[in-house]
Amino acid sequence: MISDTPFKLAILISGEGSNLQAIIDAITRGTLDARIDMVISNKASARGLGRARQAGIPAVVVAAIKGQSREEYDQRLLDTLAPTAPDLIVLAGFMRILSADFVRFYKGRIINIHPSLLPAYKGMDTHQRVLDAGETWHGATVHFVTEKLDDGKTIIQSRIPVEPDDTAESLQQRVHIEEHVIYPRAIQWLRETLLQPAIDPL
Ligand code: GRF
Repeated sequence: MISDTPFKLAILISGEGSNLQAIIDAITRGTLDARIDMVISNKASARGLGRARQAGIPAVVVAAIKGQSREEYDQRLLDTLAPTAPDLIVLAGFMRILSADFVRFYKGRIINIHPSLLPAYKGMDTHQRVLDAGETWHGATVHFVTEKLDDGKTIIQSRIPVEPDDTAESLQQRVHIEEHVIYPRAIQWLRETLLQPAIDPL
């Protein structure tokens, strides 16, 4: 049985927001039983902000201030998120590393999507690095966020073959298509497990 309580998401972005869009679309289609209460971007120019507003979701910018520490920035994030009390923090192309305090506050309730078959190819430029290494497989991973970059337990992966004529761009496009399938699926799975009501012993 799934709880009647809404599954409240906060989504953090920095750019295009195509994964945000996939999550919005899955909710609209009814394949994801969740509600996005807030979208936060660290960049005012993020295209995803427009996608959120188009869908009627409050979208705010929390921009880094010069000289501010990671801890101070993350405290502003925590303050911004607090009124919505999210069940799950969804990082969707959020280009900042979260501090230990932030990760601890939402322990086990922060997820990220990364364009590689983790634990391989953590960090940036994954598509080019996969090509340079002559890999035959590539993909995307949804994982829990810990204090280490692109670390934490894997929730779901999608794997695609690297074709002989692939470029970093073509790989990126095909990986993105996979991301848009697995991210809403991972969130729905968490919805069904994280909010599972305790079994009534009677
Ligand atoms: C995705 O490739 C994701 O794996 C990575 O950042 C990118 C975000 O893309 N973490 P978008 O903003 O969702 O289009």
